[in-house]
Amino acid sequence: MTKKELLYEGKAKRLFTTDEPNLLIAEFKDDLTAFNGEKHSQEAGKGALNNKISTELFKLLENAGIPTHFVDRPDDNHMVVKKVDIILIEVVVRNIATGSLSKRLGIEDGTKLPFTLVEFYYKRDDLGDPIINDEHCLILDLIKSESDLEELKRLGREINTILKAFFAKKGLNLVDFKVEFGYDSEGNILLADEISPDSCRFWDMETNEKLDKDRFRQGLGNVKVAYEEVLKRILGEDK
Ligand code: TMP
Ligand code: ASP
Repeated sequence: MTKKELLYEGKAKRLFTTDEPNLLIAEFKDDLTAFNGEKHSQEAGKGALNNKISTELFKLLENAGIPTHFVDRPDDNHMVVKKVDIILIEVVVRNIATGSLSKRLGIEDGTKLPFTLVEFYYKRDDLGDPIINDEHCLILDLIKSESDLEELKRLGREINTILKAFFAKKGLNLVDFKVEFGYDSEGNILLADEISPDSCRFWDMETNEKLDKDRFRQGLGNVKVAYEEVLKRILGEDK
């Protein structure tokens, strides 16, 4: 399968058309950005790590019954995916308060939430991805129906249940994560984009060490070492 035209370029990936109308190729870039692109850097090998980590997690989720866009990982930096119309809602699922939740609501960093929190953000870089509620989603016509919105919440929670248990066995706390969904040509909702240390927060269960993009956001260093450690845990023995 070969890349044809560049369809879209985001901060961390490029999307290309292929000879197959229903398949696209995603190229994972080495770019690292934070604060809506204000902070930017590159880390050689980061794209390949996120491609491999996303592949492993998409396969895990597929096997557990979550429909995803994943098809194949032909080489280090490329993933073949089913073509979807991306739903412009970023679904954030949180187990522990940190990041923008702590900042916005004054909940102490590291507080375990009494139940899993699902939030929606409007995927609009020019607006800085603002937090939105169900009614905003419907008013903005971001989703076909209220029941599809409920389905996004259900899928977000289900993905959390699967990944949280998986990472716990690897000695990692899944603090929070962001997922994106899209409609395929038949109108099915598929998990899309990526699931990686760029889009999740992982804290080591013993040391609380951050093993995700917060190392870049907060200037903690050793970004690639952390991503390599996440992949090693995913592929390694359970603890
Ligand atoms: P937040 O605490 O900054 O809102 O982030 C919540 C989760 O979403 C965290 O795991 C990082 C992820 N995330 C993205 O994947 N993309 C983004 O643009 C932002 C702001 C967060
Ligand atoms: N993804 C956003 C950016 O690239 C923000 C973040 O992940 O912190 O700027």
